[in-house]
Amino acid sequence: MCYNYRMKSYIVGNWKMNFSVGESSVYLHKLQQKTRAYRSIEVVVAPSFTALQPLSLQLDRKKIRLAAQAGNPHDFGAYTGGVSYTQLRGLVDYGIIGHSERRQLFHESDKDIRASVAAALRNQITPILCIGETETEHTFGETEDVLRDQLLGGLSEVSTEDITKVIIAYEPVWAISTTTDSRLASPDEIARTVKFLRHILSDTYSASVAEEIPILYGGSVNPSNAGAYLTVPGINGLLIGGASLIGDQFIDIIETAKKVQS
Ligand code: PGA
Repeated sequence: MCYNYRMKSYIVGNWKMNFSVGESSVYLHKLQQKTRAYRSIEVVVAPSFTALQPLSLQLDRKKIRLAAQAGNPHDFGAYTGGVSYTQLRGLVDYGIIGHSERRQLFHESDKDIRASVAAALRNQITPILCIGETETEHTFGETEDVLRDQLLGGLSEVSTEDITKVIIAYEPVWAISTTTDSRLASPDEIARTVKFLRHILSDTYSASVAEEIPILYGGSVNPSNAGAYLTVPGINGLLIGGASLIGDQFIDIIETAKKVQS
Protein backbone atom coordinates (compact mmCIF):
# COMPACT_ATOMS: atom_id res chain seq x y z
CA MET A 1 0.00 0.00 0.00
CA CYS A 2 1.29 3.46 -0.83
CA TYR A 3 0.58 6.21 1.68
CA ASN A 4 0.12 9.85 0.93
CA TYR A 5 3.19 11.32 2.58
CA ARG A 6 2.67 14.68 0.90
CA MET A 7 -0.46 15.30 2.91
CA LYS A 8 -0.60 18.32 5.24
CA SER A 9 0.95 17.96 8.71
CA TYR A 10 -1.23 18.65 11.70
CA ILE A 11 0.27 20.07 14.88
CA VAL A 12 -2.42 20.07 17.54
CA GLY A 13 -1.98 21.47 21.04
CA ASN A 14 -4.33 20.05 23.64
CA TRP A 15 -4.26 22.53 26.52
CA LYS A 16 -6.48 20.32 28.69
CA MET A 17 -7.75 22.14 31.82
CA ASN A 18 -5.07 24.82 31.84
CA PHE A 19 -4.90 28.61 31.37
CA SER A 20 -7.45 31.25 32.35
CA VAL A 21 -9.23 33.10 29.54
CA GLY A 22 -6.71 35.94 29.88
CA GLU A 23 -3.72 33.59 29.80
CA SER A 24 -5.16 31.79 26.76
CA SER A 25 -5.50 35.10 24.96
CA VAL A 26 -1.94 36.19 25.77
CA TYR A 27 -0.62 32.80 24.65
CA LEU A 28 -2.49 32.98 21.34
CA HIS A 29 -1.29 36.53 20.75
CA LYS A 30 2.36 35.47 21.19
CA LEU A 31 1.89 32.32 19.11
CA GLN A 32 0.45 34.30 16.23
CA GLN A 33 3.26 36.85 16.46
CA LYS A 34 5.97 34.22 16.43
CA THR A 35 4.64 31.74 13.85
CA ARG A 36 4.42 32.03 10.11
CA ALA A 37 1.47 30.80 8.08
CA TYR A 38 2.39 27.55 6.35
CA ARG A 39 0.04 26.07 3.79
CA SER A 40 1.44 22.59 4.42
CA ILE A 41 0.99 22.71 8.20
CA GLU A 42 -2.28 23.04 10.06
CA VAL A 43 -1.63 24.38 13.56
CA VAL A 44 -4.54 23.79 15.92
CA VAL A 45 -4.98 24.67 19.59
CA ALA A 46 -7.64 23.24 21.89
CA PRO A 47 -8.34 25.61 24.80
CA SER A 48 -11.03 25.27 27.46
CA PHE A 49 -14.62 25.98 26.42
CA THR A 50 -14.58 29.33 28.24
CA ALA A 51 -11.75 30.63 26.04
CA LEU A 52 -13.12 29.52 22.67
CA GLN A 53 -15.33 32.52 21.98
CA PRO A 54 -12.79 35.24 22.94
CA LEU A 55 -10.00 33.41 21.12
CA SER A 56 -12.10 33.04 17.99
CA LEU A 57 -12.29 36.86 17.84
CA GLN A 58 -8.50 37.31 17.88
CA LEU A 59 -7.71 34.30 15.70
CA ASP A 60 -5.63 34.63 12.56
CA ARG A 61 -7.12 31.67 10.71
CA LYS A 62 -4.30 31.60 8.19
CA LYS A 63 -2.00 30.57 11.05
CA ILE A 64 -4.07 28.84 13.72
CA ARG A 65 -7.34 26.95 14.02
CA LEU A 66 -9.35 26.13 17.12
CA ALA A 67 -10.45 22.75 18.43
CA ALA A 68 -12.82 21.77 21.22
CA GLN A 69 -11.43 19.24 23.70
CA ALA A 70 -14.76 17.40 23.96
CA GLY A 71 -18.43 17.92 23.23
CA ASN A 72 -21.87 16.55 23.90
CA PRO A 73 -23.29 14.54 21.00
CA HIS A 74 -26.86 15.76 21.54
CA ASP A 75 -27.70 18.94 19.69
CA PHE A 76 -29.71 20.64 22.49
CA GLY A 77 -31.62 19.65 25.60
CA ALA A 78 -31.52 18.77 29.27
CA TYR A 79 -27.83 17.89 29.55
CA THR A 80 -26.63 20.09 32.41
CA GLY A 81 -23.03 21.17 31.93
CA GLY A 82 -22.95 19.91 28.37
CA VAL A 83 -21.71 21.83 25.33
CA SER A 84 -22.89 20.42 22.03
CA TYR A 85 -21.25 20.33 18.62
CA THR A 86 -24.22 22.33 17.39
CA GLN A 87 -23.24 25.06 19.87
CA LEU A 88 -19.60 24.76 18.80
CA ARG A 89 -20.42 25.05 15.12
CA GLY A 90 -18.70 28.06 13.58
CA LEU A 91 -16.52 28.50 16.67
CA VAL A 92 -14.11 25.61 16.11
CA ASP A 93 -12.87 23.75 13.06
CA TYR A 94 -11.84 20.62 14.94
CA GLY A 95 -13.07 18.51 17.84
CA ILE A 96 -10.89 16.17 19.89
CA ILE A 97 -13.07 13.13 20.56
CA GLY A 98 -12.48 10.09 22.74
CA HIS A 99 -9.31 11.33 24.41
CA SER A 100 -8.18 8.71 26.93
CA GLU A 101 -8.83 11.13 29.80
CA ARG A 102 -12.43 11.52 28.61
CA ARG A 103 -12.77 7.74 28.33
CA GLN A 104 -11.23 7.06 31.75
CA LEU A 105 -12.05 10.06 33.96
CA PHE A 106 -15.39 11.06 32.44
CA HIS A 107 -16.50 7.52 31.56
CA GLU A 108 -17.27 8.35 27.94
CA SER A 109 -18.44 5.15 26.33
CA ASP A 110 -17.87 3.90 22.79
CA LYS A 111 -21.49 4.84 22.15
CA ASP A 112 -20.86 8.45 23.28
CA ILE A 113 -17.72 8.61 21.18
CA ARG A 114 -19.28 7.35 17.98
CA ALA A 115 -22.23 9.70 18.49
CA SER A 116 -19.79 12.59 19.04
CA VAL A 117 -17.92 11.80 15.82
CA ALA A 118 -21.22 11.84 13.93
CA ALA A 119 -22.37 15.04 15.70
CA ALA A 120 -19.12 16.83 14.89
CA LEU A 121 -19.37 15.93 11.21
CA ARG A 122 -23.04 16.96 11.13
CA ASN A 123 -21.91 20.38 12.36
CA GLN A 124 -18.98 20.83 9.97
CA ILE A 125 -16.40 20.14 12.67
CA THR A 126 -13.54 17.79 11.81
CA PRO A 127 -13.34 15.01 14.41
CA ILE A 128 -9.92 14.07 15.76
CA LEU A 129 -10.78 10.60 17.01
CA CYS A 130 -8.32 9.50 19.72
CA ILE A 131 -7.59 5.84 20.21
CA GLY A 132 -5.00 4.10 22.34
CA GLU A 133 -4.39 1.09 24.51
CA THR A 134 -3.66 1.19 28.23
CA GLU A 135 -0.50 -0.14 29.83
CA THR A 136 -2.31 -3.31 30.94
CA GLU A 137 -3.78 -3.92 27.49
CA HIS A 138 -0.33 -3.35 26.01
CA THR A 139 1.30 -5.79 28.44
CA PHE A 140 -1.31 -8.49 27.78
CA GLY A 141 -0.90 -8.23 24.00
CA GLU A 142 -4.37 -6.79 23.47
CA THR A 143 -3.26 -3.65 21.61
CA GLU A 144 -4.52 -4.63 18.17
CA ASP A 145 -7.93 -5.79 19.42
CA VAL A 146 -8.42 -2.64 21.48
CA LEU A 147 -7.37 -0.35 18.65
CA ARG A 148 -9.55 -2.16 16.12
CA ASP A 149 -12.58 -1.83 18.43
CA GLN A 150 -11.93 1.85 19.21
CA LEU A 151 -11.25 2.73 15.57
CA LEU A 152 -14.16 0.92 13.96
CA GLY A 153 -16.46 1.68 16.91
CA GLY A 154 -15.71 5.39 16.67
CA LEU A 155 -16.26 5.44 12.92
CA SER A 156 -19.32 3.22 12.79
CA GLU A 157 -21.84 6.03 12.32
CA VAL A 158 -19.78 7.84 9.68
CA SER A 159 -21.04 7.64 6.11
CA THR A 160 -18.68 6.52 3.34
CA GLU A 161 -18.94 10.04 1.97
CA ASP A 162 -17.66 11.56 5.23
CA ILE A 163 -15.06 8.99 6.18
CA THR A 164 -12.11 10.94 4.76
CA LYS A 165 -13.12 14.02 6.78
CA VAL A 166 -12.00 12.27 9.97
CA ILE A 167 -8.55 12.51 11.58
CA ILE A 168 -7.28 9.71 13.82
CA ALA A 169 -4.90 10.31 16.73
CA TYR A 170 -3.06 7.28 18.06
CA GLU A 171 -2.14 7.93 21.68
CA PRO A 172 -0.93 4.94 23.70
CA VAL A 173 -2.25 5.73 27.18
CA TRP A 174 0.97 4.45 28.75
CA ALA A 175 2.95 7.09 26.86
CA ILE A 176 0.85 10.09 27.83
CA SER A 177 2.79 12.27 30.25
CA THR A 178 -0.03 12.65 32.70
CA THR A 179 -0.01 8.98 33.60
CA THR A 180 2.21 8.14 36.55
CA ASP A 181 4.25 5.40 34.89
CA SER A 182 4.58 6.92 31.45
CA ARG A 183 7.36 5.91 29.09
CA LEU A 184 8.13 6.90 25.54
CA ALA A 185 6.82 4.92 22.58
CA SER A 186 9.56 4.17 20.07
CA PRO A 187 9.18 5.29 16.45
CA ASP A 188 9.36 1.61 15.38
CA GLU A 189 6.50 0.62 17.68
CA ILE A 190 4.42 3.52 16.36
CA ALA A 191 5.23 2.65 12.75
CA ARG A 192 4.00 -0.93 13.29
CA THR A 193 0.80 0.28 14.93
CA VAL A 194 0.07 2.87 12.26
CA LYS A 195 0.59 0.25 9.56
CA PHE A 196 -1.90 -1.95 11.37
CA LEU A 197 -4.43 0.91 11.60
CA ARG A 198 -4.10 1.66 7.90
CA HIS A 199 -4.63 -2.03 7.09
CA ILE A 200 -7.85 -2.01 9.09
CA LEU A 201 -9.00 1.13 7.27
CA SER A 202 -8.11 -0.43 3.95
CA ASP A 203 -9.92 -3.70 4.73
CA THR A 204 -12.99 -1.92 6.09
CA TYR A 205 -13.25 0.94 3.61
CA SER A 206 -10.74 1.01 0.76
CA ALA A 207 -7.06 1.45 0.01
CA SER A 208 -7.64 5.08 -0.94
CA VAL A 209 -9.49 5.82 2.31
CA ALA A 210 -6.62 4.22 4.24
CA GLU A 211 -4.23 6.44 2.35
CA GLU A 212 -6.17 9.67 2.78
CA ILE A 213 -7.07 9.64 6.48
CA PRO A 214 -4.47 11.56 8.50
CA ILE A 215 -3.11 9.71 11.50
CA LEU A 216 -1.48 11.76 14.26
CA TYR A 217 0.70 10.54 17.10
CA GLY A 218 0.39 11.74 20.69
CA GLY A 219 2.13 10.82 23.93
CA SER A 220 4.88 12.89 25.58
CA VAL A 221 5.83 14.67 22.37
CA ASN A 222 8.39 17.42 22.95
CA PRO A 223 10.85 19.44 20.85
CA SER A 224 13.55 16.75 21.17
CA ASN A 225 11.48 13.81 19.93
CA ALA A 226 9.05 15.60 17.56
CA GLY A 227 11.31 15.16 14.53
CA ALA A 228 11.58 11.41 15.10
CA TYR A 229 7.81 11.02 15.52
CA LEU A 230 7.01 13.20 12.52
CA THR A 231 9.15 11.02 10.28
CA VAL A 232 7.48 7.76 11.31
CA PRO A 233 6.05 6.33 8.06
CA GLY A 234 2.31 6.91 7.89
CA ILE A 235 2.24 9.63 10.59
CA ASN A 236 0.78 12.97 9.51
CA GLY A 237 1.15 15.07 12.61
CA LEU A 238 1.19 15.29 16.37
CA LEU A 239 -1.23 15.75 19.24
CA ILE A 240 0.67 17.47 22.02
CA GLY A 241 -0.35 18.00 25.63
CA GLY A 242 2.31 19.22 28.08
CA ALA A 243 4.71 20.73 25.54
CA SER A 244 1.89 22.71 23.91
CA LEU A 245 1.52 24.72 27.14
CA ILE A 246 4.99 26.17 26.70
CA GLY A 247 4.86 28.57 23.77
CA ASP A 248 8.52 28.24 22.76
CA GLN A 249 8.32 24.44 22.76
CA PHE A 250 5.13 24.42 20.70
CA ILE A 251 6.67 26.82 18.16
CA ASP A 252 9.80 24.70 18.05
CA ILE A 253 7.65 21.66 17.17
CA ILE A 254 5.86 23.61 14.41
CA GLU A 255 9.24 24.60 12.96
CA THR A 256 10.40 20.99 13.17
CA ALA A 257 7.31 19.92 11.20
CA LYS A 258 8.24 22.44 8.52
CA LYS A 259 11.86 21.21 8.44
CA VAL A 260 10.97 17.55 8.06
CA GLN A 261 8.73 18.41 5.11
CA SER A 262 11.50 20.08 3.17
P1 PGA B 1 1.20 14.73 26.51
O1 PGA B 1 -0.38 14.66 26.25
O2 PGA B 1 1.83 15.34 25.28
O3 PGA B 1 1.33 15.61 27.72
O4 PGA B 1 1.67 13.35 26.73
C1 PGA B 1 -0.87 14.21 25.03
C2 PGA B 1 -2.36 14.11 25.12
O5 PGA B 1 -2.87 13.76 26.19
O6 PGA B 1 -3.06 14.39 24.13
